[in-house]
Amino acid sequence: MAADFDTRVRGLADDRREALVRWRRDLHRHPELGFEEHRTAAIVESHLRELDLEVHTGIAGTGLIGVLRPAGSDEPAVLLRADMDALPIQEVSGRDYGSTIEGRMHACGHDGHTAMLLGAAEVLCEMRDALSRPVVFCFQPAEEGLGGGRRMVEEGVLDIVPVGAVYGLHLWSLEPAGRILVRPGAFMAAVDSFQARIVGRGGHGALPHESRDPIVAAAQCVTALQTIVSRTIDPVQPAVVTVGELHAGTATNIIPDDARMTGTLRSFDDRVRQTLRTRVRELLEATAAGAGCRAEVTIHEGYPAVINSTEAARIAREAATMTVGEDSVSEPPPIAASEDFSYFLRERPGAFLFLGAGNEELGITAPHHSPEFDIDESVLPRGSEMLARLALHAECPR
Ligand code: NI
Repeated sequence: MAADFDTRVRGLADDRREALVRWRRDLHRHPELGFEEHRTAAIVESHLRELDLEVHTGIAGTGLIGVLRPAGSDEPAVLLRADMDALPIQEVSGRDYGSTIEGRMHACGHDGHTAMLLGAAEVLCEMRDALSRPVVFCFQPAEEGLGGGRRMVEEGVLDIVPVGAVYGLHLWSLEPAGRILVRPGAFMAAVDSFQARIVGRGGHGALPHESRDPIVAAAQCVTALQTIVSRTIDPVQPAVVTVGELHAGTATNIIPDDARMTGTLRSFDDRVRQTLRTRVRELLEATAAGAGCRAEVTIHEGYPAVINSTEAARIAREAATMTVGEDSVSEPPPIAASEDFSYFLRERPGAFLFLGAGNEELGITAPHHSPEFDIDESVLPRGSEMLARLALHAECPR
């Protein structure tokens, strides 16, 4: 029985190979930025309605879900999430499926995510007898910095049908096509940023005693910030404090009124994250004061860390092994990039995983967010299969 079941999921996903490429290329030609995914959402909606799913639109603006309810189930649902937005990047020319919109590009693979989840919806509709719980196909807007995931969660996407577990899959061009990466615990970083204005008193460069020099204060601030990770964070906890901008002054002989700096903070643990924010503010204020200046500090909260639950990561690993074989599944180290699927994972147990989509022989090696970014489309059926297996796994007769 197990073999039949296995073959059926694989076969149904493979049957959609051409459709997946067609959908992905259509979306790739028509990229839309966050919260502007009107065409994409309309295409998704029409597919979901053709499948006779219960459709809810207008969640976080352009977000929508399709619900597949097996007969007589009162189990909590499994939510599978794809993001739909593109980036403000000009794609390299010469691709027949290249972006038709100036300065817009699917440079992170979200076109593939949307296509793969539509494929999984088709597969699962044909296997609804094997499901004992509802499946929510969640199409999210605005992952790239605008927090569409947060808005979907705030607008109740986990309660329209009570959701018990959440899964998300990201294509990853830096891994060979067909590898699946999944790990329990912290996987991707929390990101916050800060802006500071160091306020002094300007004057003549030859009369520093008549001024309060914000440049010297800012230089001391940059150095002081480097002690946060080395002196206040547990050395076995990863953290990053980077000053990314520092601006001050206009001439050789003028002490300016102020200096401005910005920076990014990365962490994987909530307490570390809180320490970074607190210490950045304290050190900037105290160091500026020590130099006779004043610091005005603003901390901007970004995405929380992606934390996979142990149980969901185990389920995902088993599903991945069935999809691509044990040798193609691995546990990656955490990476310091961020993802707003973390907002789903803060509310429900679940896992976020990567599906390798690079291919050196085909020249597909460019990193995400680059104008040359591409994916090996042969992985699309595996993505649909993987997503379908995540929903089916509990029922899988093994
Ligand atoms: Ni992405």
